[in-house]
Amino acid sequence: MVESKFVITGGKPLRGRVRVGGAKNSVLKLMAASLLTPEECLIHNAPRIADVEIMCEVLQHLGAEVERSGESLRIRAGDFASREAPYHLVRRMRASIIVLGPLVARWGEARVAIPGGCNIGSRKIDMHLKGLAEMGAEITTEHGYVHACAPRLRGAHIVLDFPSVGATENLVMAAVGAEGTTRIENAAREPEIQDLIAFLLSMGADIEGAGTPVVEVTGPTPLHGTEHTAIGDRIEAGTLAVAAAVAGGEVAIEGADPGHLGMPLEKLRDAGVEIEVGGEGIRVRGGGAYRSVDLATLPYPGFPTDMQPQMMVLLSLAEGISVITENVFESRFMFVDELNRMGCDIAIEGHHAVVKGVGRLSGAEVSAPDLRAGAALVLAGLAAEGETHVLDIHHVDRGYERLEEKLTSLGADIRRETVD
Ligand code: UD1
Repeated sequence: MVESKFVITGGKPLRGRVRVGGAKNSVLKLMAASLLTPEECLIHNAPRIADVEIMCEVLQHLGAEVERSGESLRIRAGDFASREAPYHLVRRMRASIIVLGPLVARWGEARVAIPGGCNIGSRKIDMHLKGLAEMGAEITTEHGYVHACAPRLRGAHIVLDFPSVGATENLVMAAVGAEGTTRIENAAREPEIQDLIAFLLSMGADIEGAGTPVVEVTGPTPLHGTEHTAIGDRIEAGTLAVAAAVAGGEVAIEGADPGHLGMPLEKLRDAGVEIEVGGEGIRVRGGGAYRSVDLATLPYPGFPTDMQPQMMVLLSLAEGISVITENVFESRFMFVDELNRMGCDIAIEGHHAVVKGVGRLSGAEVSAPDLRAGAALVLAGLAAEGETHVLDIHHVDRGYERLEEKLTSLGADIRRETVD
């Protein structure tokens, strides 16, 4: 693999309009849901990002036909070559676990490599497996694989310990193939789950409660092909909003529903960023003096953990001390040492980060430990004096399509270079 880095010269204000792509965390699930029918599914607004390409490989490995044309993916899972998602694919993208529910629902059987931990936490899948077992699946874990076997799934009453996004999605997709009603309590409510349920409804599923903590699925219903446009990526939109805030200037962000960004926009306003929300999207005016703000990550509609690193950059530029509490992933502060190398003053105490505003950052060579932290380092580079080199940007490419081109179109000085 050729490794690349971003070279950023900070201090250039951003101006103009930018459009975000389809939501990564929605499109990956819509692709998995396409396994539930032998008919063709057409998904529009599918971003060209590494994670979507890996999910294409997972589906193809399973025997599905996947074809991309522009921003659309055509998927036909007529027959299956395999019911197994192998380790060499799952280790590249943990979200591959999402094929477990659809495979069991459609074929009564699945073997999926157990996703390991990653740089933000241990990423357990116990709730996915417990829920499937409650629907009657026999679960065994051996040799690094989960094997789920259920010639007939039956509806069940499932109470999740925590509103896990992946567990909710896997269980909803398994439940469409189960006999009777499955009631999932303490379900996650993220907009991407609502999008997945809209997709399943358009395939003929019977689901109630999308966007609420109780989701009821009655099955099995015959599922047919469908055509669906994925929602815009709220995290990409939020990242670009913080970019405009830290670099200064004025940017209009289109393509994402501002209603999906309630809490991040609220916190940006609290910090002193000027935000206007209109029919076309979000307008951000940055460059003023910012104030400290405390925030805690929580499941939707709380503050998204996927925006926590980006906010930390903004709060480093604010006056005063902010406390960020991370409640979703246990090790999501791994990038803090990289930010401190750029002049930030952030101390970690358990799951709290104490962020002292420093006013100015200085460009440095830093490494992206994961996707959102990588994006945060790019934002820090935009705000910093001098040159910043962000290494390991394959993490950033997992979830942002042509981030450097979008930022360049707004006036940033950022380029991609191959690392020798
Ligand atoms: C999804 C998103 C990710 C986002 C996260 C939280 C995708 C592809 N990824 O990840 O970008 O940061 O939601 O909004 O959609 N947990 C368990 N047992 C389980 C399942 C989860 O303990 O069976 C824990 C996890 O370790 C984590 C927390 O619950 O600490 C939240 O995880 P979850 O909501 O499942 O996140 P993902 O679906 O993995």
